[in-house]
Amino acid sequence: MTAAMIKIRISTKIGYRWGLFNLSRLAHKHFIMQITPYSHTAINDAAQYLRDGRLVAFPTETVYGLGAVADDDKAVARIFAAKNRPQFNPLISHFADRQTALAAGRTSQIAQLLAAQFMPGPLTLILQRAKNSTISQLASAGTDTIAVRVPAHPIALHLLEAVGRPVVAPSANPSGQISPSTAQHVLDGLGSAVDMILDGGPCQRGLESTVIDCRNAQAVILRPGPITPEDIEKHTGLKIAHSMAGQPNNDQQPVSPGQMTSHYAPKARVRLNAKEFRENEIFIGFGPMPPDLQPHFNLSATGDLIEAASMLFAIMHEADKTATKSIAFAPIPMSGLGITINDRLVRAAAAK
Ligand code: TXA
Ligand code: MG
Repeated sequence: MTAAMIKIRISTKIGYRWGLFNLSRLAHKHFIMQITPYSHTAINDAAQYLRDGRLVAFPTETVYGLGAVADDDKAVARIFAAKNRPQFNPLISHFADRQTALAAGRTSQIAQLLAAQFMPGPLTLILQRAKNSTISQLASAGTDTIAVRVPAHPIALHLLEAVGRPVVAPSANPSGQISPSTAQHVLDGLGSAVDMILDGGPCQRGLESTVIDCRNAQAVILRPGPITPEDIEKHTGLKIAHSMAGQPNNDQQPVSPGQMTSHYAPKARVRLNAKEFRENEIFIGFGPMPPDLQPHFNLSATGDLIEAASMLFAIMHEADKTATKSIAFAPIPMSGLGITINDRLVRAAAAK
């Protein structure tokens, strides 16, 4: 750490002072994005960044992930902003060990069988959220499900242990682009949108984890990946079904990842771009509101889109709990994360 420290003179109101600065932190914070090679110091710095709610890209055996602590709504929201994701797809929570991963949800026998065989490894299990789950609602896209994974990569595991909290990590690429399998890919794609990039060399697999819904008697592959149905049958005796993306869903057929039905739709009707109160309606504001339009909830009183995104699903749940028939949303600007929030709101409104 000392190698990167410098002493500089800072001007203050009462004259000059000497201060110690950590150069590499300063570089991360203010100037250039750089790739940080793996070391104990780098892991400690990365863990601190994550605990502070910042974004750290790190290697896994599949692809590089863009990490944020899973129990910090705002940090999770930053991921969607950094990736420029048009939708709030649910995110995978990464854990340092199998027991903690399974404890985040309601485990089934199938989940335990798969975890015993393939965790750590390129496998993601979809579970029912545990009642006392601390994982952000935004990570679950407002649903009562949770995706858990234990990566089989020493650097990822070292980082997860150092953080001591679950870390959500989508692939560290801008939305719609190819998943990154080197630190350089991450830098090229996301640049300064990420606070730190931990380099662990090229990823072994280069293909994202197999996602399996384990909530029902029949396990279903939602996203094919490195672990195949044949692998699973061979090692566990389980027969696994496929859910092809794009197929229509019904109650019997589990949701494919990213499909709109996998998101939370409120029971109440949703009215958008509301500029006035209507009777028996829960009004959700955004930004500073006029005195005659004090909302029941405000996504962000200061008009911060990252905060608004982080609160969206939690507030929808709260509004729904009042058993109201209708929820009205004040206009949300169509820029940055606002586009994502509006996309979600339009879907919520259309679901009725
Ligand atoms: O290999 C991987 O899984 C990588 C590394 C970084 O771990 N991560 C990754 O994350 O590929 P992402 O966000 O790019 O893809 C996650 C997939 C999406 O298709 C998403 O819809 C699905 O997992 N998913 C996440 N949570 C889900 C949930 N609760 N229910 C259904 N699908 C879920
Ligand atoms: Mg991805």
